[in-house]
Amino acid sequence: MILFLSIFYSVLSKLKTGNCFSIKKRKFAVHFCDITMLDKVKELIGEVKAFKATTKEEVETFRIKYLGSKGLLKELFKEFKNVDASMRKDFGQALNNLKNAATEKVNALNNAFENTTEENHIYGDLTKPSEPISLGSRHPISIVKNQIIDVFNRIGFTVSEGPEIEDDWHNFSALNLPEHHPAREMQDTFFIEKNPDVLLRTHTSSVQVRYMENNEPPIRTISPGRVFRNEDISARAHCIFHQVEGLYIDTDVSFADLKQTLLYFTKEMFGKSKIRLRPSYFPFTEPSAEVDIYWGLETEVDYKITKGTGWLEIMGCGMVDPNVLKNCGIDPEKYSGYAFGMGIERIAMLLYQIPDIRMFYENDVRFLEQFKSVL
Ligand code: PHE
Repeated sequence: MILFLSIFYSVLSKLKTGNCFSIKKRKFAVHFCDITMLDKVKELIGEVKAFKATTKEEVETFRIKYLGSKGLLKELFKEFKNVDASMRKDFGQALNNLKNAATEKVNALNNAFENTTEENHIYGDLTKPSEPISLGSRHPISIVKNQIIDVFNRIGFTVSEGPEIEDDWHNFSALNLPEHHPAREMQDTFFIEKNPDVLLRTHTSSVQVRYMENNEPPIRTISPGRVFRNEDISARAHCIFHQVEGLYIDTDVSFADLKQTLLYFTKEMFGKSKIRLRPSYFPFTEPSAEVDIYWGLETEVDYKITKGTGWLEIMGCGMVDPNVLKNCGIDPEKYSGYAFGMGIERIAMLLYQIPDIRMFYENDVRFLEQFKSVL
C-alpha cells in the first residue's frame, strides 16, 4: 500500500516538474530524473572541455549557448530547485563545474584569438618578441686553429685532413721512422692492432704523406687535426692534443723560404718579429730545427712562461728528407720542400694564459664561456 502510494506520488511530482519520477520506499528514495540530469551535466562538461573553434564567431555562439541569458546554464540553474534535497549537493557542484569549464573555455579561446588576424592565425603572432637564445662560444682550440688556418691561407696554403686511425706506413715508415724508434713502442703510441700495425696517429705528418701520394707538386698545404700519444696526463701534457703541420714542395725551395714563412707566421699570429732556429733532429726532415720566438721579458708572466730567457719554443721544422719525398712518389732530384709542425694547445695556452692543458678537455662552461667574445 505504501509502495503504491509512493508511486502515485512520484507520478504526480513527475507531472509537476515535467520530467521526473521517483520511487520512495520507506526512508529510501531513488530519483531517476536527478541521476540522469547529473549524468547529462557531466556529459556537457566533457563537451565543453573538448570544444574547439576556428573563428571568433564560433566562440561567441558557444558562449551564448552555455553562458548567455537564455543559455543552458540558466536553464539548468532553474531546474536546481526541483532537484531532490539528497542530490542537490552533487548537482550544484556539477553545475558549478560546468559553468567554470565554459567560462574558462571562452576566455582561453578569446585570448588565443586576440590580436590575431586571419594571417597570423596561421603563422602565430609575428610581432611577438622572440625567446632569447643564449649564444654558445667556440672552443679555444677551434679559435686558435682557425686563426692559424687564416694566416696560412693568406699565403696560398690549402687545408688537408686525414684519418685519426692510421697504418704504420703513413704514420711511421714513409716518414723514415726506423724500426727501433721509441715512438713505435707501446708506451708512446696507442696501437689498435699489431702486425700489421693499426694505431691512433701520433702526428698529422701522416696527412702530409697521404697528400704527397695523391698530389703533384707544387704542394702548399697545412694539416690541422687531433693526435694521440701515450703520455701521462699533467698540467703540461695530455694523451690527446691538436697539431697543425705544414708542407711546401716545389722546385728550388730553400731553407730561407722556410725561415721567411715562419717569420711571417709569428708576426701575424703573435705580433712578434724575432725568431731563432736551433738545430734539432726529426727523422723526416734534414736539416731540422726547433723554432723559438722572442716573447720578451716585459711582465712577470713573460718571465714565468719563458723561464727568464725571453725565448719560447713553438714548433719543429726542417727540409723534407729526400727519402720521404721518394717514399711518397715525388722525385727528390727535381723537387725539394720544407715542413713544420706545432701544437695548438701550446699556442692557445700562450695566447690566453691558460695554466693547465687539462682545462681544454674538461668542458667546464665557466672556462668555455670566457671565449664568447672571440668568435
Ligand atoms: N711531426 C713533428 C711532431 O709531431 C713536428 C714536425 C713536423 C717537425 C714537420 C718537423 C717537421 O713533433
